[in-house]
Amino acid sequence: MDQGRTVAILLAAGKGERAGGGVPKQFRVVAGRSLLGHALERLRAHPAIDAVVVIVGAGQQAAALEALAGMAAPRLIEGGARRRDSVAAALAALAGDPPTRVLVHDAARPFLPLAVIDRLLEALAGGAAGAIPVLPVVDTMVEAAGDRLGPVVPRDRLARVQTPQAFRFPALVAAHAAWPTDEDASDDAQMLRAIGESVLLIEGDPMLEKITHPADFALAEARRARPMRIAAGTGYDVHRLAAGVPLWLGGIEIPHDRGLAGHSDADVVIHALVDAILGALAEGDIGSHFPPSDLQWRGAASSAFLAFARDRVAARGGRIEHADLTIICEAPKIGPHRAAIRDRLAALMRLAPDQVSVKATTTERLGFTGRGEGIAAQAVVTLALPAANRD
Ligand code: CTP
Ligand code: MG
Repeated sequence: MDQGRTVAILLAAGKGERAGGGVPKQFRVVAGRSLLGHALERLRAHPAIDAVVVIVGAGQQAAALEALAGMAAPRLIEGGARRRDSVAAALAALAGDPPTRVLVHDAARPFLPLAVIDRLLEALAGGAAGAIPVLPVVDTMVEAAGDRLGPVVPRDRLARVQTPQAFRFPALVAAHAAWPTDEDASDDAQMLRAIGESVLLIEGDPMLEKITHPADFALAEARRARPMRIAAGTGYDVHRLAAGVPLWLGGIEIPHDRGLAGHSDADVVIHALVDAILGALAEGDIGSHFPPSDLQWRGAASSAFLAFARDRVAARGGRIEHADLTIICEAPKIGPHRAAIRDRLAALMRLAPDQVSVKATTTERLGFTGRGEGIAAQAVVTLALPAANRD
C-alpha cells in the first residue's frame, strides 16, 4: 500500500422510500444492530481505513446518533436530495484536508467483508483510478419491451455493481465536477468512466446485497444467521432411597420421609439432565467431569453440574433449545412440585419455562422404583450447535 490517507464515506442520507417502514431503512435494526451501525463497524474494522465520515439527511443527525448508540460517534455531514448530492457534500467537506483515497459505501449494504476492501485497495495500489466490486449475473438476461420479450443480452457482458467503491480522491472530485448538474447518477464509478478514467472490476460478495425492499430485511437477517444444526442427547440416572437424607429432585428440596443417597446431593433429575446435555455435546458423561471418587463432589449441590453443562453449551457457541424430563417413582407424588421443578431447572439453564418439560410416572409397583427402593429419571435434551464446516 502506498502512502497517504484513506477515508470512507458512508452514505446514510436516503429516505428509504422503497423499503417503507416509517423510519429510513439505514436506521432499522438487523442482526442486533442498525444497518448504519453494521456498516460503520465494518469500515472501522479495516486497518487501512483512517477515518469514516457518515452522510445523513437534513434533520437526521439525532436519529443517526441514536442508531449508533454505544459506538464512538463519527463525523456527520449533511447530505443532499440525490445520492450524488450526498457524495458531493462529503467530497466538499473533505476537500480542506484531502485524503489520497476514498471509499464510497451505502449504509444499505450493512455486511461488508473486509476482504472486499483488501481487493479494492489492491486495485488502487496497482494504479487504477477507481475500483468497484461486482458479481456475475446468473440468470438469462433479456430486453423487455413492456410485457413483450426482447432479445437476449449476453450475460458475460453484464455484471451487478455493489459498494464500497474505491477512488483516488482527486479523480472522484474531477468526475463529480464534470457530470451534468441536473442528472443523477446511481453510481460514482460511471462518473469516473465518463471522464476517461479506468475503473477496475474486482470480485464482490453476496453478503453485500443491498437492502432495498421490505422483504430484504428478513433476507439480510437470514444471510447473517450462522448455520446451526440440532443435536439431541439422552440421560438416565438412578439413586437409592435412604433414610436420614434430604430429597433433592430437579434442584429443589422436597419434603419426604426418605432422601436419595449417592454422589453429591444425589439429585437424580439433574444428573440425567446433565448427561443429556453432555450427550448432545458428545462430551462424555457426568462421571467423566465430576468423578464420584473425587471427594470435592461429596454432598455438592448438583446445580453446579448443570451450570457447568450449560456453560459448555455456550462455550461451543450453542444454545439449549429444549429439555424433556421424566421422573420415575411411586412416591413422593411429583405433581404438586412439577411447576417448581420446571421453573428451577429453567432458571438454572437460563431458559424460558416453556422450554422445560417435567413429567412423572410410576411403574405400577413393579421393579425397584415400584418397590420404592429408588428413584429413576430420564432426560432428552435438544441443542442448537454451530454447524461444523465440513467442506
Ligand atoms: N443515499 C444518500 N443520499 C441520498 C440518497 C441515497 O446518502 N440523497 C444513500 C442511502 O442512504 C443508501 C444509499 O445511498 O445508503 C443507496 O441508496 P438507495 O438504496 O436508493 O437508498 P434510498 O434512497 O434511501 O432508498 P429509496 O431509493 O428506496 O428511497
Ligand atoms: Mg434511492
